[in-house]
Parts: sequence; structure tokens; C-alpha cells
Amino acid sequence: MSYDTITVESRDKVTLVTINRPQALNALNTQVLEDLIAAFAAFEKDDTQGCLVLTGSGDKAFAAGADIKEMADKPAAEFYNEDFFARWTSNLVRTTRKPWIAAVNGFALGGGCEVAMMADFILASEKAKFGQPEIKLGVAPGMGGSQRLTRAVGKAKAMEMCLTGRMMDAEEAERSGLVARVVPHDQLLEDAVKTAAAIAAMPPMAAKVNKEMVNAAFETFLDQGILHERRLFQILAATEDKAEGMAAFIEKRDGEWKGR
Ligand code: HXC
Repeated sequence: MSYDTITVESRDKVTLVTINRPQALNALNTQVLEDLIAAFAAFEKDDTQGCLVLTGSGDKAFAAGADIKEMADKPAAEFYNEDFFARWTSNLVRTTRKPWIAAVNGFALGGGCEVAMMADFILASEKAKFGQPEIKLGVAPGMGGSQRLTRAVGKAKAMEMCLTGRMMDAEEAERSGLVARVVPHDQLLEDAVKTAAAIAAMPPMAAKVNKEMVNAAFETFLDQGILHERRLFQILAATEDKAEGMAAFIEKRDGEWKGR
């Protein structure tokens, strides 16, 4: 499939998606939205692909936000009637059961920060900068930023960032729990693809289940989350990959996964 605003390539079992509007610091317009939704849907359906990496083109930005030029003249009624932004959160997050990583190589602002936070985890280059500066435009986060940032870094930092629009650098983002790891700028992509390849080499059903379990921690009470975890564990115990994984350990060899 070909796309207008992103590039998609397979590196063995890893799908690498790059937002490709460097002249606009990879601002997220409607076409980027449509392209990303299509690319994620293709990844989800493709049994040869086990993990996806999303990054930004150029040296400066992951994505500097929703496209301000596209939104500037849009009447409020259109935002409401189109349920603007709804498709982003529902399609990229809820329907992608396979793991994916955001490799943040520069600015991740507004919608860019929000899309990065939709990933299962973020790897950041030393040049990454995160922020929710929408307040300066007279608006506020619209793709989950106020909720996900608060869950990731806590109320104090999230509130300060949303109210002042200040950016958080990579070191602070790691210290605050927003990103899993910071890596040297020129090694980000290589590291992200290697990390994704390690995930893609895992038993595929176990990867989906582990993702579902961790995400459940944000959606439910502790008792229900622990019950959910136990039930999913018990389902995995019935898979061929569980029998293979344990046999492979005992026989001191690598497992060969069937995804069932
Ligand atoms: C459209 C954008 C853009 C954006 C940058 N550009 N961000 N275009 N939408 N979000 C464009 C600029 O207009 C410029 O185009 C080119 O990219 C380079 O940007 P510069 O500003 O010249 O670069 P620099 O001086 O290095 O500053 C980088 C920056 C700044 C600090 C990241 O670009 C910036 O503050 N961008 C906006 C960040 C932001 O507010 N994001 C949140 C958006 S709102 P030209 O044609 O002039 O070269 C959002 C959700 C809103 O995400 C929810 C509403 C309901």
C-alpha cells in the first residue's frame, strides 16, 4: 500500500512507520490520521509482523502537534459534529492489540505527545522534548493528553505542563516515568527497531496478553485487574506456545512459536 504522509517499511518482523512531513515538523493533519489508521490496520492483520515502531522524519520532530493551519478556521460545530480526534484514539489504541513503540526523535508536542503516549511505551532520543502547549493556542489537549500525561507523570507535573505549556526534556521525561529509556540521538532508530525485534520474537499471543494485562491496570480497580490477569494467565497456560516455551527452556533451546 502507498501513503501520502507516512512511509512504511518492514524490517523482518518489525513494521517501521515514519511520519513524513518534515517541512511542517510532522504536524498531524487529517491525511496523516487516515494514513496512520490504515498502516496500523495493515500491521494488525499481517501475521508476519510482530511489533511496530512509529517515528518522525527529519532531525527535529516526532510530531509538533495537530496541524494548526488545518484547525485555525474550523468552526466549533464541525469539531463537535465530526467528533474531531475520536478516530485517533479509538483506532490507534483500542484496535491495535499487537505491541508498538513510539521512537521520539525531537519535538513531541500537543497531538504529537498524545500520539506518543498512545504507544505501549516511548523510547526517546536525547533531543526529545515533550509538551502540551495547546493552552497557548486558546485550546487544550484533545487526544487524551490531559489523561495519559497525568497517569504517566502525576498531577503536579502534568498540571504545570498543561497550564504553562512548558516542555519537558528527555532526561526529565525518563525521570518522571513518561519514557522507558533515553538513547543517544543517532542510535534511536536502531535501538527502537532492535527492541521491537526482541518483542516480535516473543510468542505472539503472550505478547498481546502481556500488553492487555498492563493496560488493564489503568482501566480498573486492583482486585478486578488482578483477577483479569489471573484469567488471562490461565488462558495462556492452554496454548501450544506455553508447552513449547517450557519444553524449550528445559531442553535448553530456542522456542518456535505458533501464536496459538
Ligand atoms: C502546523 C506547524 C506546526 C503545527 C510547526 N509547524 N508546528 N504547522 N501545525 N503544529 C510548521 C511551522 O509553521 C513552520 O512552517 C515549520 O513547521 C517549522 O516550524 P518553526 O516554528 O519555524 O520551527 P522552530 O522555530 O524550530 O519551532 C519549533 C516549535 C514550533 C517550537 C515546535 O514550531 C511550535 O511551537 N509549533 C507548534 C507546537 C504546538 O503548539 N503544538 C500543539 C498544536 S495543537 P513554515 O511554513 O512557517 O516554515 C494540538 C492539539 C489541539 O496538537 C487540540 C485542539 C482541539
